[in-house]
Amino acid sequence: MKKIIGFFLLLWLLSSNTIFANEVTVYSARKEHLIKPLFEEFSKDTGIKVKYLTGKGETLIERLKTEGKNTKADLFITVDAGNLWYAGNQGLFQPVATNIIKSNVAKHLRDENGLWTGLSLRIRTIVYNSDKITPSELSSYGDLANKKWKNRLCLRTSKKIYNKSLVASIIYNKGEEKAQKIVKGWVDNLSSIPKSKDSHVMDAIIAGQCDVGIINHYYYGAFVDKNPNTPLKLFWANQNSTGVHVNISGAGVLKHSKNKKNAIRLLEWLSSAKAQNIYLNLNKEYPINQNIEVSKDMQKWGAFIQDKMNLSNVGRLQLESVLLMQKQGYK
Ligand SMILES: [Fe+2]
Repeated sequence: MKKIIGFFLLLWLLSSNTIFANEVTVYSARKEHLIKPLFEEFSKDTGIKVKYLTGKGETLIERLKTEGKNTKADLFITVDAGNLWYAGNQGLFQPVATNIIKSNVAKHLRDENGLWTGLSLRIRTIVYNSDKITPSELSSYGDLANKKWKNRLCLRTSKKIYNKSLVASIIYNKGEEKAQKIVKGWVDNLSSIPKSKDSHVMDAIIAGQCDVGIINHYYYGAFVDKNPNTPLKLFWANQNSTGVHVNISGAGVLKHSKNKKNAIRLLEWLSSAKAQNIYLNLNKEYPINQNIEVSKDMQKWGAFIQDKMNLSNVGRLQLESVLLMQKQGYK
């Protein structure tokens, strides 16, 4: 009898996840439709169940700070190196640098101390109206400060982290003084007050309010899907100097993770070719691994040289960037 009770007790323990929880819990600032398909594939491949909670990045970071050691979360996913750096700076992550991650993710797309890693590439670059401009007239972010663009430039608000990170990269590459001049020139050239969204920048160009702007490439991808005959075109900035500014979506393993092994496994899996192709199909984000081929649609946008500055720098220079933009009147 004892043996039978013992057998059923063991069976219950194994099935109840109390001692061998084969699961991982993710807090995600990325929307559900962009992560669910990835988690489903991961579970199919590994048998590890993914529990997740989505929300705003800042809210989730505050929640993780409040939960501290008691958190159920193992991995935090968000967009923009500035946000990842902030979460790392708040002490939420633990360093992870496995050989798989090192070989899948280029060094400049990972935190210098291994706290977070990039999982997809988002290129912040120039968009222009090809009915009014030829690509030979374009060159760099800095050139958009030139007087020839007076009243022809549209930008998104400086409040958005994408622009804070872009300007941080300009400070890093050019120094504070030159960065100030560039931002001042942009502000002088604006045809209207900064827009609240990247898509509004494109709408304004189409409406004739301006001829050129700066956006993340996947908004352009979505725009072209809806408007296949659009005169809008992408231009890869800074190809003769630093390379175009790249940013990432990414993740870090949480310091108080209870399923660290599974969290690392998920992080590694997300950097794999299979997951990278899912990112590509879901939101046209470029693979972090440049050996992976992009779709025919995206091949039309051409190849680009990317800025190899380590993205930890956009976090480190974030505050300086915000103050610089404020000082130059970039709203
Ligand atoms: Fe975005």
